[in-house]
Parts: sequence; structure tokens; C-alpha cells
Amino acid sequence: MISLKTGRDVDAMRRAGKITAAARALAGEMVKPGVSTKAIDRAVHEFILSQGAKPSFLHYNGYPASVCVSINEQVIHGIPGSRKIHEGDVVSIDVGACIDGFHGDCAATYIAGEGSEEAKRLIQVTRESFFEGLRYARAGYRVSDISHAIQAYVEQRGYSVVREYVGHGVGSKMHEEPEVPNFGRPGHGPRLVPGMTLAIEPMVNMGVWEVRVLSDDWTVVTADGKPAAHYENSVLITSGDPEILTPTRGDGFDV
Ligand code: MF3
Ligand code: CO
Repeated sequence: MISLKTGRDVDAMRRAGKITAAARALAGEMVKPGVSTKAIDRAVHEFILSQGAKPSFLHYNGYPASVCVSINEQVIHGIPGSRKIHEGDVVSIDVGACIDGFHGDCAATYIAGEGSEEAKRLIQVTRESFFEGLRYARAGYRVSDISHAIQAYVEQRGYSVVREYVGHGVGSKMHEEPEVPNFGRPGHGPRLVPGMTLAIEPMVNMGVWEVRVLSDDWTVVTADGKPAAHYENSVLITSGDPEILTPTRGDGFDV
């Protein structure tokens, strides 16, 4: 069953989304050479608590931190630790926060210092593919219209989309129905209606789409060791334009 949010639920989703997006921005500003990934986790954790919210990821299925920090060939679910960020690293930040019973979930990829043109392009295309998908995040379309738009945009630019991990509904649980894949034929899956809240999150690899999980049982890496990028917002389907629930200045409809 896909939950539809109305009234106070939507207000709580907005509150959660704002805090989550601010946490993402805070983490993104810390992506600099010499900063440890656990320093980012600590800052995000404290920020979320300071807002009266709870980190959605902490202890989720045993996940040990409040943020995922995934570097270079790491696609998602990198666990913060003593590793320090280096010049040119491609660093994906994924964060979730819960307030008044509702979750926000968002992600973005940042470069530490001066990145390569190749890395910048990967990050840009990943972000743009989200906005391409968002064009179909409207009542009357179907879930896979979003999926197809993302895949086409990414593949036309020579990159690949991860298949094993997908976007999802988001609400009183961090992961709700429906699944929102970043690939597929258009015209399939549930029809979108106002009140649905979806976490749309393209995971884009520079090389092959295949991934594997490291022995820590969390970190997802590309099979060919090439870099990956991630971009995610929680989105409300309305009777008109979709509303990004996790907005960041400069991260809105300015693509
Ligand atoms: N943000 C991730 C997602 O969209 C969830 C992170 S998994 C966790 O599915 F275990 F770290 F919480
Ligand atoms: Co998500």
C-alpha cells in the first residue's frame, strides 16, 4: 500500500525535509582534504539532534552512523570512520532525519578541493538526471516514467545506472512503497497521485553498472573500481508541480 500524505503529515514531511537538506549542506561543506569521515558523521549527528530530530540511519538495520559517506568507487552506504578525505576525492553524502514521525532522505556528491573535469561531469549529469526524472513526478504519470527518464539521460551521456539499489517511497517509515528504480521501460508501476512522497535517487557509475558489497556488509562499490555519484531528494507529488521536500539553496530548480 502506498501511503498518501495530507495536511499535518505534509507539514511534518516539510519539517523533516528541511532539517535533512540542511544536514546534507553542512556535510557537503565539510568535504575538504584532511577531514575524516567520522568528523562529518559527528557534525551531522549533532546538528540533527539540535533541531529536535532523530538521525534516521542510525541503527537502521544495524547501520552504525547517522550519515553515509561514500568515496570515489564507493557508490552508497559508506560507513564513516578514521579515513580522511583527499584532494580530488568524489564524496557522496546521504542523510536522513525524522521529526514528528516523518522522515526526510537526501543525498548529493561533492568534490574535495579541485576535482577532475571527468569527476565534475559525472556529478553534474547525476544531479541533472534527478531533475530529468522529476519532470515525470506528476499526477497521472507512472513510477517507471521517472525511472526511464533518468536512465535515458544517464546512458545517453555514457554513464550507467545502478540496478540493485533503487529509490523509494518515504514517509513515516524511511523506506515505503513504491520502489522507484532508476531504469526501466516507461508506462509501468503505480500511477502517481497527489500526496505520494518519493525519494528519487539516481546512483550513477562512470563505468559499468554492476556493484558489489564490501566485507563490512554495507559499503557498495562499483565492480570496475571507477567512481560513482549519487543525488537524492524527497519529493511530494501534488496536483501541479512536484515539491522538493529537501531543498538546498542552489540545489533547487536552477539546472
Ligand atoms: N538513504 C538510503 C536510502 O535511500 C538509506 C541509507 S541506509 C542506512 O535508502 F542504513 F544507512 F540507513
Ligand atoms: Co533513499
